[in-house]
Amino acid sequence: MSAVSNISSKLPKHETSIFSVMSKMAYEHGAVNLSQGYPNFETDKHLKELVYQAMLDGHNQYAPLAGIAPLREQIVDKIERLHGKKYDKDAEVTVTNGATQALFLAITAFVNPGDEVIVLKPAYDSYEPAIELNGGIPVLIQLEGKEYKLNFEAVKQKVSEKTRMLIINTPHNPSGNVFSKSEMQQLESLLEGTDIILLSDEVYEHIIFDEAKHYSASAFPELSKRAIVCASFGKTFHNTGWKMGYCVAPEVLMAEIWKVMEVNVFCVHHPTQRAFAEYLKTPEHYLELGNFYQEKRDRFLELIKDTAFKFKPSKGTYFQLLDYSQITNEPDVDFSRRLIKEFGIASIPVSAFNKDKVDHRQLRFCFAKTDETLEKAAEILERIK
Ligand SMILES: Cc1ncc(COP(=O)(O)O)c(C=O)c1O
Repeated sequence: MSAVSNISSKLPKHETSIFSVMSKMAYEHGAVNLSQGYPNFETDKHLKELVYQAMLDGHNQYAPLAGIAPLREQIVDKIERLHGKKYDKDAEVTVTNGATQALFLAITAFVNPGDEVIVLKPAYDSYEPAIELNGGIPVLIQLEGKEYKLNFEAVKQKVSEKTRMLIINTPHNPSGNVFSKSEMQQLESLLEGTDIILLSDEVYEHIIFDEAKHYSASAFPELSKRAIVCASFGKTFHNTGWKMGYCVAPEVLMAEIWKVMEVNVFCVHHPTQRAFAEYLKTPEHYLELGNFYQEKRDRFLELIKDTAFKFKPSKGTYFQLLDYSQITNEPDVDFSRRLIKEFGIASIPVSAFNKDKVDHRQLRFCFAKTDETLEKAAEILERIK
């Protein structure tokens, strides 16, 4: 019992996330867990050694607020090589506690009470609470149909003089869609002449399949002038628990982000920054990620091709949506719970990400798992009819 009786919650509608609920259930039932959005295999031993070495070398005190210079240099070089945009390493880069902190910093730095932020649903679950904590108003737009197509007209209609920010995510969790060049260009013209900041969540930037290309907001001159691009080392290097990431943005925007960063955490884990600064010198470490996960996706889809689940292969991210409408008409939350209890397999019901819990009878499965786990999962999925 707390001595404080009048707790006026700043997030009164916030519920325990579906991820925690499903993970807990999966654990209790000993289920094969494809609900969690992270690998069940190890990060590179060499990278771990680099962190330890940095500790032994004495890099154990605060790093600079924006991150150490050698790491910022590597980030800037990487973006220039891949997207042709040269950010200023001293003014336009910040190393953060995962992409989640970068997103939170960006929203906190710019969203004032009453400001509107357009969020395309289904969406990663940290955006809306972050907007609300800052007094902003999430303006939700549901991507269309079972394939989650972006309708630019629908976005245009929601833009008002109160719109402060638009959040996009490509490659997209949970749909596995990626924005095409033409979609990014349409976005560029839609925002032209406005004061809207684009918050571009690109944490799955290197997990892209079938010769597709990741079109970063950095690559489009007019978009990049208003964009804060967020990235995650955790997703790229199989160490989500290290919570390391970064954001890049034009100097005037980054200056505001730094004000929040300073009073929020000031800086992030120093030895890990040293390690990433070294590790990023070998571009293969991230450039081969697409092939690595494409093999996993293909293996998983080959294993489940004769099941009663229907699918379109994911174009990016390490998630695959499976449509179970041929099996049952149960709501996705009920069905996913039943799959854990009766069959021993955990997934995420996609309605949890959608506006008004729209339910297309789809479940999200994470294939960032060992072959053994994927095989076990497929055996189970085969039995569900
Ligand atoms: C779309 C999206 N953005 C951001 C994140 C969080 O990234 P990080 O672990 O680097 O904070 C996730 C993790 O699931 C995600 O799916």
